[in-house]
Amino acid sequence: MARSVQVSASITTADFGNLYRVIRKLERAGVDRMHLDVMDGHFVPNITFGPDVVAAVRRLTRLPIDAHLMISEPARYIDRFIAAGADTLTFHIEVAESDETKHETIATIRGAGRVPGLAISPETPPSALDDYIADLGMVIVMTVEPGFGAQHFMPGPAAKIADVRRMFGDRPDTQVHADGGVAADTAAIVGGYGVDVCIVGSALFQRGRDTALEVQAVKREAAYAPPER
Ligand code: DX5
Ligand code: ZN
Repeated sequence: MARSVQVSASITTADFGNLYRVIRKLERAGVDRMHLDVMDGHFVPNITFGPDVVAAVRRLTRLPIDAHLMISEPARYIDRFIAAGADTLTFHIEVAESDETKHETIATIRGAGRVPGLAISPETPPSALDDYIADLGMVIVMTVEPGFGAQHFMPGPAAKIADVRRMFGDRPDTQVHADGGVAADTAAIVGGYGVDVCIVGSALFQRGRDTALEVQAVKREAAYAPPER
């Protein structure tokens, strides 16, 4: 059965000197969403940008914005990312905050009318989400170690996509996103596990490669469902 899989574009490796042009190009290429990687140099060993850049992207596009917060203290900053206009806000289950605080952050996101998500790094089992899944609208399954764009896809952690999809069951308005190293040549793997959204970064910004063709190829490959056995 043909499924439809979305592409969320990660601009981490794009030219920040011309965000306007980057976003126009991505829109023309047919991406469905924008994935913004926020890194604080503490939770991950890299720094990207904060809420002001999220707000700037908000002014440049009507596409849904997925804020992927790779920061140590999501509870402290969540209001600023909500105010910046992100549609979905995802933080990492691995952060050293209490369960209570994590639940509060999820409730804050929901209360603001946005979609709360949790991300799981390659080593984290899906069972870490057990106490949260009922309150989430999305989960990001990392297929690289968080921190940098343009890393190699890890097939092992991708299998967790199927587990998380099963945990969501047939609940409407739930999405599993695959993040890291997803491109035309790996999309069939995450598609086979039932992914809803492919996050694609560096593959969209290769010199000499057509961005629209890459987006189409990712959607086509990911939508291919292996025959039931
Ligand atoms: C990694 C980020 C990813 C990544 C995606 O920490 O969360 O979103 O930048 O980019 P590619 O597709 O280059 O792996
Ligand atoms: Zn990301």
